[in-house]
Amino acid sequence: MSTQRLLHGVCLAVVALALAACGDNTQPAGSSPTGSPTTNAASKPINVGFIQTGSESAWRAANTNSVKSEAEKRGIKLNFISGEGSVDKQRAAMSTLIAQGVDVIILDPLQNFGWDPSLKAAKNANIPVIIADRAIDSSPDLYVCFIGSNFDEEGQRVGEWLAKKTDGKAQIVEIEGQNGSAAAVDRKKGFEEAIAKYPGMKVIASKSGEFETAQGKQVMEAFLKNPDLKGMTAVFAHNDDMALGAIQAIKEAGKQPGKDLLIVSVDGEKAMVQAIANGEANCTVECKPLLGPALFDAAEKVAAGQKVEAKQYSKEELFDSSNAAQAVKERQY
Ligand code: AHR
Repeated sequence: MSTQRLLHGVCLAVVALALAACGDNTQPAGSSPTGSPTTNAASKPINVGFIQTGSESAWRAANTNSVKSEAEKRGIKLNFISGEGSVDKQRAAMSTLIAQGVDVIILDPLQNFGWDPSLKAAKNANIPVIIADRAIDSSPDLYVCFIGSNFDEEGQRVGEWLAKKTDGKAQIVEIEGQNGSAAAVDRKKGFEEAIAKYPGMKVIASKSGEFETAQGKQVMEAFLKNPDLKGMTAVFAHNDDMALGAIQAIKEAGKQPGKDLLIVSVDGEKAMVQAIANGEANCTVECKPLLGPALFDAAEKVAAGQKVEAKQYSKEELFDSSNAAQAVKERQY
């Protein structure tokens, strides 16, 4: 072999070794090529801002507990801000968290529209936003992912259950959730889609009870007093708290909830599952509030520059007289 060819071979070997040493960029974020931890965002406790809707229901209380306890468990620094039922307060909270420069913002939006300016501001400040619980109509480019429930499907499942129970014949009064919230808009849509297949099923009155027990009761009292609604046979409430308020109103009017009037709703709260077991309500489709673990899994990944699934829906059950007595023993909220 000539000296020139030998030198060429040595050079190739050196280049190959050098490439092998610096060419592997597939290691997980947060570790060096040798596997030892680095000091990037993933290895520091992250700073998360969480914007809650308010405290309208037992579901919301369980959701807040799940978020706070999970953050504490993981050593995440949490700036929890309640919108107290006001979209303006939620928008102001977005501005506050952007100014603070948190690592990730988690937003549980009261309304499903009007979020573009806040989301654009977060994007300009390089702060990723995770949408929790209630979906929004903004372009998915403006936020990282959505984690919550499929409200449309929840409404459909309630509608289908009622159709089966009544052989497709029901005069329904509807107690809606917060105006403009995805939980109210999509549950209504899903329910209407399901009952549209049955000409004998009709929604004869609808009014918002704002997802609150007291307001659900007031709406039901007004329905019961309205002579035009004498023929009602079923109540569809967009959440369990309002259904429980409606049950009180029906009892006070001297009627039997669950028998004289069928009661169906969404959430799967322990008190509602108990009411079904007692025969005072008929069906609830679960909506999972315990989102803390999934939200912070996503927040930690995003802060570490990793990809997350764009849409993550919870798996949810349906409770009726067939399983309520057993299920109530295991319900956590
Ligand atoms: O967004 C989820 C809904 O909001 C729940 O069904 C309701 O109980 C809550 O207040």
